[in-house]
Amino acid sequence: MSDTLSEMQEALQQIQLDFEAEAKQAGLNALALENLRVAYLGKKGSLTLLLRGMGKLDAAQRPLMGQAANDIRQTLEAELNGYITQARHAEQEIRLEAEAIDVTLPGQVTPLGCRHPLTQVIDQITRIFTGMGYAVAAGPEVEYTRYNFDLLHIPEGHPSRDVTDTFYITDDIILRTQTSPVQVRVMRQQQPPIKIICPGMVYRPDTPDATHSPVFHQIEGLAVDRGITMGDLAGTLQLYARQLFGADTKIRLRPHHFPFTEPSCEVDVSCWNCGGAGCPTCKGEGYVEILGAGMVHPWVLEQNGIDPHEYSGFAFGIGVERTAMARYKIDDIRNLYSNNLQFLEQFK
Ligand code: PHE
Repeated sequence: MSDTLSEMQEALQQIQLDFEAEAKQAGLNALALENLRVAYLGKKGSLTLLLRGMGKLDAAQRPLMGQAANDIRQTLEAELNGYITQARHAEQEIRLEAEAIDVTLPGQVTPLGCRHPLTQVIDQITRIFTGMGYAVAAGPEVEYTRYNFDLLHIPEGHPSRDVTDTFYITDDIILRTQTSPVQVRVMRQQQPPIKIICPGMVYRPDTPDATHSPVFHQIEGLAVDRGITMGDLAGTLQLYARQLFGADTKIRLRPHHFPFTEPSCEVDVSCWNCGGAGCPTCKGEGYVEILGAGMVHPWVLEQNGIDPHEYSGFAFGIGVERTAMARYKIDDIRNLYSNNLQFLEQFK
């Protein structure tokens, strides 16, 4: 029986030696160390198996052997835990090094763009009118001559219908030359009260130069209700001009002619540069023209389903490029379409 005891004691020592050797090989590899724990101290580990063999010992030898095995188990566990802690530290060091951030390096700057000056002006004007209760309407850029001309009281043979002034797609389909056909579309869809604006692109066969472009933008305005007068038009445009050009801005209505408004006018604002005294910006006039307007012609109301005996209205058409050029002192309309970043970046 004492043979069995010494055999087991030897085996115990061997386990410790083997463990030491394997631990050395595992180094500071946490995974290898965990595997070692399973191999020696786990349920099927060599130390556990050895302890199970204690049944073969005499009852008197068992406590001796048990004590020795427990001592070894504690030693191995302590060693293993020490190694594993070291391994974790080492791994963390490596990770910290790899993930180190140098907060003193300059950041990566994503260059910020800006909205196009035309978009900015359209947004500003839209905000002013929506603030006065106007809704934003839209219509197609490819339009019927009926909506662009006929129903706006522009009869066949009118010079603006000539091929030199209008892009024709077919005899009765064109690229709209103005945003006014949206007036027609809105009136045909809804009864008063109507208060809409319509920003959009329009087309005319003009040769590009400093003040002309075959494609440009307008913002149409239309208000129809009972008892609307020229005074409402003047007051609305006064408010608009003050908000866009500054609180001291004055407006001036000059008689003009548009087929679809009666009476019609062109509207000037006091020069935002000189305040009305006369300077190069206003070409000495003191005023600068900003839009066309007038009272909607009763014929136009009637043709588009609104009773002119019950209702009246005003309309206006703002030239967006002209407004942008005035606001930002741009001297050539082509700058607005040339995609020149050096020019566009001024509007950040
Ligand atoms: N449609 C006109 C133009 O293009 C402008 C305008 C709109 C005038 C509404 C009066 C009323 O010149």
